[in-house]
Amino acid sequence: MKAGGKMKYDFDSPVSRRDSNSIKWESPQLLKNMEISNILPLWVADMDFVVAEPIRQALLKRVQHGVFGYSYVDESYYQAIISWYQRRHAFAIDRESICFSPGIVPGIAYLLRLLTQPGDAVLIQPPVYYPFAAEITNAGCQIVENPLLEDENGYYRMDFADLQEKAKQAKVMILCSPHNPVGRVWTEAELRQVADICFSHDVFVITDEIHNDLLRKNIRHICLASMYPEEQRLVTCLSASKSFNLAGLSCSSLIIPDPDLRRRYKEYLQQVVHVSSPSVLAQAAFQAAYLEGEEWLDQLCAYLDGSIVLVQQFLFEQLPLAVFYPPQGSYLIWLNVSAYVQDTQAFVRDLAIKTGVVLENGELFGAGGRGHLRLNIACPRGLLQRALQILAQQLKSV
Ligand SMILES: Cc1ncc(COP(=O)(O)O)c(C=O)c1O
Repeated sequence: MKAGGKMKYDFDSPVSRRDSNSIKWESPQLLKNMEISNILPLWVADMDFVVAEPIRQALLKRVQHGVFGYSYVDESYYQAIISWYQRRHAFAIDRESICFSPGIVPGIAYLLRLLTQPGDAVLIQPPVYYPFAAEITNAGCQIVENPLLEDENGYYRMDFADLQEKAKQAKVMILCSPHNPVGRVWTEAELRQVADICFSHDVFVITDEIHNDLLRKNIRHICLASMYPEEQRLVTCLSASKSFNLAGLSCSSLIIPDPDLRRRYKEYLQQVVHVSSPSVLAQAAFQAAYLEGEEWLDQLCAYLDGSIVLVQQFLFEQLPLAVFYPPQGSYLIWLNVSAYVQDTQAFVRDLAIKTGVVLENGELFGAGGRGHLRLNIACPRGLLQRALQILAQQLKSV
């Protein structure tokens, strides 16, 4: 939002997600142990906000057409991605390098099958988005951990000395940038160091940048590939799905600069996955997001900034022993509550059953996650405040 700009979009009014097949609100698995009427879900990483109006209009227009036969991808779809990355991230994407994936996690899974042999070592930096570990195992590879270091303020850094050692045995590294769940947006110096270590040991880097548009005021995300325009041992994973709340449309892009890997990836999509382009609805929505969604996104980020201040004040007053460093990117809060509770797995389960507040247990994210909780704050502040009150009461009564 421009300085002094007014909010045009309303992020405060609750939007019912009932009867929309929302995993976060009403998945059958969730409702096994809980009453639907009192659920306050701060878990699955999507947003309880209506999409930007131009996206809705683009979808309505396409739906009104009424015919949804086989379709090709128009060049304008690719140009929308290219112009967004040029404008917002100063990242010049070569049109040829853009490849489709039905999601970032599937994309990473396919890449691992093309880049590794069973038994190869793949680096990750826990605590980290847990499907990385699952997909490494699914591909028959070994997980090698380069754990992040947490300081007493809850600020995380990379352990480069450890990475130097571990990179010697690794084939691939999956970098989470910005990082889910710790909320770091890596600096240019950090990115340079991690990439230089990897490339000097011939480690291929898959950089997952799905959270790259969700930034705090004055924080800048740098696309790793924009720093290494000639590097072939690098794939960037991108999508408008997090930024614009479109995850249910199953569409993302892998930017693959190496022509040989790109050819093999496209063959894999055609011969193994058998889904090689976005659906007509995804094309319409993603194109509208990148061409006309900027104002909404800026206002969303301003709203999230305010919600993070609210969380910070609440914690200061109600849970002074919780360690919290405001996330530089994403809408996820990573909270060290080890002064209140160690066994966060049992705590999260009991909290959900007793109160309806659903959070992610930090242990899921691997090494260093115990004693932590992950909260998704992409919801109206009224809901967030109610959930925080309940969380505080429960933590204080453990
Ligand atoms: C770092 C990261 N990568 C990937 C995803 C999911 O991507 P997709 O739904 O496109 O597979 C998420 C969702 O939370 C995420 O946080």
